[in-house]
Formats: sequence, structure tokens, C-alpha cells
Amino acid sequence: MNHAPGPRPAPPPGQLWRHARLASFQPGTPWGWVEDAALWVEGGQLRWVGPDAELPPAVDGHRPTLQEIDLLGALVTPGLIDAHTHLVYGGDRAAEFEQRLQGASYEDIARAGGGIRSTVAATRAASDEALFQAAAVRARALMAEGVTTVEIKSGYGLTEADEARCLAVARRLGRELPLGVRTTSLAAHALPPEYAGQPDAYIDAAIAWLAGQQRAGLVDAVDAFCETIGFTPTQTERLFHAAQALGLPVKLHAEQLSDQGGAALAARFGALSCDHLEHLSPAGIAAMAQAGTVALLLPGAYYFLRETKLPPVAALRAAGVPIAIATDHNPGSSPCLSLLLMLNMACTLFRLTPEEAWRGVTVNAARALGLHDRGRLAAGLRADFVVWNAEHPRELAYRYGHNPCRRVVQGGQEVAR
Ligand code: NIG
Ligand code: FE
Repeated sequence: MNHAPGPRPAPPPGQLWRHARLASFQPGTPWGWVEDAALWVEGGQLRWVGPDAELPPAVDGHRPTLQEIDLLGALVTPGLIDAHTHLVYGGDRAAEFEQRLQGASYEDIARAGGGIRSTVAATRAASDEALFQAAAVRARALMAEGVTTVEIKSGYGLTEADEARCLAVARRLGRELPLGVRTTSLAAHALPPEYAGQPDAYIDAAIAWLAGQQRAGLVDAVDAFCETIGFTPTQTERLFHAAQALGLPVKLHAEQLSDQGGAALAARFGALSCDHLEHLSPAGIAAMAQAGTVALLLPGAYYFLRETKLPPVAALRAAGVPIAIATDHNPGSSPCLSLLLMLNMACTLFRLTPEEAWRGVTVNAARALGLHDRGRLAAGLRADFVVWNAEHPRELAYRYGHNPCRRVVQGGQEVAR
């Protein structure tokens, strides 16, 4: 795919997509299934969605300007949403992968000053343009599988200027690619070398940067890495108070490597999501259920770090906690650029049903980002959808290493492929 920079042209007059097998993820029926569906797209939005045989009479008045597309029974789903990525960074960690294969743990490497901090050094050394070009290649790989919205975290700059640079690169991706982008400030990702031994002073600095990031329109949410190799619950709480004072929603890397009580803490702040959660306790589950916080599971990181402790999926399900799935794309724990592969891994590794996995990259992923205009296909929502060379979405959770994406529509416009 090639996309020229600059403003996108105005949406075309309108389209009528007919004879789709539709997984709308509207409530009421499994998959929000409509066997023979039509979608009327106008001005970047869905004007009407339903059984083809029940097209509203109003559509007739628009026929002269509507482009009609017969899908001949192809599957249509919402555009996929990757609700947790670290897409903007310099360098790679292939050598660290080799070290881990020889027995070093992710935590050992982090404590020795490698891990996230080695990516911080490479990110600081990279130009804005190099960061943008590398991230655009990654974004296009996700988009090639039908991703239409992506969340992108900072967290590899760890100075005021470098964090702002990374967030600005993420915003630029949203302007120059046909892709919805939500940005998250993750300055509390690791302790930078300048603050060695002074984590509280670093948290004070990260708090001080937030208002400027918000004024510059660079941040939609605030995240932290609450972990023995990250920040303590008390430090996380101070950051969250600052986010709350600015009206910014929070989310948390919680209970990935140990139980820090981070999920319950984040839930007290009404967190959009708690992410990873392999070591989540029953108390954490109860707090998330009460707050309506999404459990964002990351099977790519679980797999790549060769974890053995599974997130408590059955208990999350029983408590009614919404579950989402994402790539967690990052150079250290999940260098994965396939959300379709995550569908398969969520089923095989975490025992989600194919429908739960799909909800995790559509309706619940939108919820994890606080977005109400996407993740389902219904009148009044964004026209973000994918046409697949498949008949049913369960096929996409079943095959892996296979990309049957045929056409992608984002904001009512077909994405060039
Ligand atoms: O989501 N856990 C913290 N952050 C990332 C990994 C970052 C890195 O290793 O570079 C994660 O797994
Ligand atoms: Fe992450």
C-alpha cells in the first residue's frame, strides 16, 4: 500500500454494499449475525445496516448517486481495532531474544540495564522522520489484515522532548495513513538512566509533562508499567491522580509478571483497561467487574516471553469483565504485527471462544479505548469495515499465518491495497 501524505480527499457520494454475510457484533444474536446483509454508507458513516431484503425505501431516492457493490456472500466484519501497541521506537531487540533463548529472563535483562532501556537509547538516537517511517511500515502491516484503528503508546523516549516526539509521530500516522490512531502517554514505562535511584523524582517529572502533552493535543490516555521492574502501586497512583485532575482516562500494564494489586488500583480510577493480567487476583477481578474496566489480554507477549501462568479467563468471564485482545506490538516482549494471529492465540493459548476473541478486537477493543463510534456495524457508526475471503469469522480464528483480507473501508473510503 502506498499513501501520499496530505489531507485525504472528501468522502465519495455513497455506496451500497449488498449481499454480505455480516458479523455486526450488535447485541442480541451471536456475532450480531445477518445472513444476507446490506450496508448503506454515506459521508463516512453507516446510514443503514440490515437484511438486504429489508432495505429502507429511502435508499431508492439515492440510487442515482450510490455506487452499488454486490459482495456475493462474502464475510463483512467491523474494521479491527488493535487497542494496545508500542508502535513508535528505534532499533530492535533481536540480540536480547538470543540472550533469552540462552536462559536470561526478561527481568534479568531489564535489571542489567537492557530491555526497555536499550530501546530508549535507540529511540532517542533516531530522527523524527526515521521513527515515523519505521512505525508507518509496522502500521501498514497491521492495516493489511484489516486493522482500521490502533492505539499507540509512548514510553521509549522518557524525556519530556522525546516522549512528545514519539506521541507526535503517532499523531502523524493518524493524519497521513487511513488509520484511526489513539495515543497514550506511557512515560512511566521504565526508569531512564538520568533518574537512576530516583524513581519518585522521575514520576514527578512525568506528571509535570502531562499538561503540556495535553495542551499540544498529543495524548488521549495515560498508562504506566506497574511491576517490580517498573513502578510501584504508590507511584502509579500519584500519576493517576495527576491524569484524573487533567480529565485524562487511565489504563495500566498490570499483573504481567507478578501481582502488584495494580488492577484494583486502576479500577479505582475507573480505568478503561487493565492489560496483560497473567497474575491477576480474585480481588483484582472483582474490582474490574465493578468498575467496568476491560481486561485487555496480550497472547503475543505471553507466548514470546514463554510465560506459563495463564490469565484467569474463566474467572473474568464468570465475573462479566469484558475481554479484549491486542498485539502489544513492541520490540521486547511482542514483536508481532498480526492481529489475526492474536485471534488464533487467544483461542489456543487462552481458551477464548472464537466469538470472544473477535469481540476482543472489535466491540470490546473500542470500549478499551473509550470509543463509542466503532467496533460494531450499525447505523450512525463509522463506516470502518473489512470484506474477507471467508464465509464466517470463526475461520479467521482457526487458520493462522493466513491473510484473507479482501477489501478495507475506513471512514467510508476504501483503503488502497
Ligand atoms: O507491554 N511490559 C511493559 N511494556 C511492554 C514491553 C516493552 C519492552 O519490552 O520494550 C509490554 O510487554
Ligand atoms: Fe504493552
